Amino acid sequence: MSPSSRLQAAEAAEIAAARAPGLTPRVALVLGSGLGPLAERIADAVAVPYGDLPGFPEAGVEGHAGRLVLGRLAGVAVACLQGRAHAYEGKGFDVMATPVRTMKMLGCEAIYLTCAAGSLRREVDAGRLMTITDHINMQGGNPLAGPNDPELGPRFPPLVDAYDPALRRLQGAAAEALGIDLADGVYCAWLGPSFETPAEVRMIQGFGADAVGMSTVPECILARHCGLTVTATAVITNLGVGLSDAPVDHAQTLRAATAAGKDLAALIERFLEMLPSE
Ligand code: HPA
Repeated sequence: MSPSSRLQAAEAAEIAAARAPGLTPRVALVLGSGLGPLAERIADAVAVPYGDLPGFPEAGVEGHAGRLVLGRLAGVAVACLQGRAHAYEGKGFDVMATPVRTMKMLGCEAIYLTCAAGSLRREVDAGRLMTITDHINMQGGNPLAGPNDPELGPRFPPLVDAYDPALRRLQGAAAEALGIDLADGVYCAWLGPSFETPAEVRMIQGFGADAVGMSTVPECILARHCGLTVTATAVITNLGVGLSDAPVDHAQTLRAATAAGKDLAALIERFLEMLPSE
């Protein structure tokens, strides 16, 4: 499967590059639930529907558009994956393999992942942003399982400092400049699509996680495998199931992500402005 993913990514990168001649993106962005509007702030934007790109998923979840947007954000050349597929949709843990590899082949050095998450710490409530410092994979699968294509990356990629410390500090500096109270913590990826039970939330807390969501981790693993530097921010949309009386459902997640998404959009733009020039 891997060699065909490499060929698909190469073809997708060629198609995308031909539509935005002269633009070599430096940073890839993956926009989660409610963050779609950030793509509208991209200057000189060229949008390529996922349907035109081999190996790209049909974006499934409400609130996810399903297009690759190339252009400039805060003066930095970016490639923005607007819409992602999730492992719980049943198309495999590697459903984002080709899109992530395409980012690398387009020339990106780093990938900025965003997501909605439930907080496992009562003092970090809905509306806060959390920079991800590390992860725990509880999805029960890995996007790199199966034959390895050594032209893409190593068989056993290490995940120490998978969330790049320097880029995390830059997120912190950008948040401080904007007066945003950025939390940090360990993100646990739950397969979903059912939310956790209260007992499962207690278990994940005991494991040392600070937030829980249903995405991001496969993309981080895929990105580290092919040599992209990773940074990630979660929008806290709720307290974990059982930690408060408020209901946890997808509509609430989308509403909260859309509201806090404005802060995250500002954070990402400031982060890009502060990125040291090449
Ligand atoms: N659990 C899992 N995924 C989520 C949550 C949650 O509480 N909130 C937003 N995405």
